[in-house]
Amino acid sequence: MSRSILVTGGAGYIGSHTVLQLLLGGYKVVVVDKLDNSSEIAIKRVQELAGEHGSNLTFHEIDLRDKPAVEKLFVSEKFEAVIHVAGLKAVGESVQKPLLYYDNNLIGMIVLLEVMAAHGCKKLVFSSSATVYGWPKVVPCTEESPISATNPYGRTKSDSTWKIILLRYFNPVGAHPSGHIGEDPRGIPNNLIPFIQQVAVGRRPALTVYGTDYKTTDGTGVRDYIHVVDLADGHIAALKKLADPSVGCEVYNLGSGKGTSVLEMVAAFEKASGKKIPLVMADRRPGDAEIVYAETEKAERELNWKAKYGIQEFCRDQWNWATKNPYGYEPQAP
Ligand code: UD1
Repeated sequence: MSRSILVTGGAGYIGSHTVLQLLLGGYKVVVVDKLDNSSEIAIKRVQELAGEHGSNLTFHEIDLRDKPAVEKLFVSEKFEAVIHVAGLKAVGESVQKPLLYYDNNLIGMIVLLEVMAAHGCKKLVFSSSATVYGWPKVVPCTEESPISATNPYGRTKSDSTWKIILLRYFNPVGAHPSGHIGEDPRGIPNNLIPFIQQVAVGRRPALTVYGTDYKTTDGTGVRDYIHVVDLADGHIAALKKLADPSVGCEVYNLGSGKGTSVLEMVAAFEKASGKKIPLVMADRRPGDAEIVYAETEKAERELNWKAKYGIQEFCRDQWNWATKNPYGYEPQAP
């Protein structure tokens, strides 16, 4: 029984947690990552956390756009399925450097799909994002909600020999409860929780709250935060679903189904950490939506998956990771 799964971007935040859950579930895992925005230390820690399963993990530093390298990998090993998590994801940067994003994310995926097809590996779990829902007119967002960004692949794919699951992540937060793997953004964090974490450990003076005049209970933006371990388990559920003969191309929301405001998040983090988070109230951030949260019924019904953890758990685990690794995978301040 080989059940070998290729995980692209497996050294990153979502990838590393997913790889760990796969190993613990008895899968053999091959990770490719170009370590642009991630660290090989994450791979080593995943290996340690997986205990006796750690030896089922192999790592290759490969850029997916390097077709000969990807080709070589598929020649050396037969994969049951691919979980494609690799990608650049900073929205602001993508607006400044669109070509970098198209080149990296689209060319990388095209190469991957070409090589997969050539080797008869046609099962794919692809990480998409709730970003595609834009500013939703109606919440919760269902998988049928109108999208304001498109996934060219999911749209155009009509070859029924492929089995593809697109996972629309809401806002992944938290860290593995061990505190040994977690999110380690390079530079100034764009996202709320990594920013709060850096304020709590003293790396930044205050959190800027973007927008206090939204039509929400306290005026701040509402999002659906989901524990990264729950999200990782969602990938395993998706892999299992790929064995179902009825699956062609399916989309699932991975969220908790609950909305939490910025101020509620700050309060929960202050409680978990015992630290005061100084706030600077500011204007809305361009491009931000007011309220986004998921309808989770489809994933519950068809993937048999549901988020287990809530706000207390992800603040606790985020803080545990932060205290053990105040500078992420770097041993000290850069
Ligand atoms: C962002 C990305 C989305 C990505 C997701 C990953 C945008 C437009 N979207 O979503 O593509 O999938 O992260 O989790 O960037 N906030 C502050 N101060 C901060 C940072 C954030 O008040 O310093 C607020 C935001 O206004 C928002 C909430 O916190 O209301 C969450 O923001 P963030 O973590 O950046 O996530 P999203 O904007 O939902």
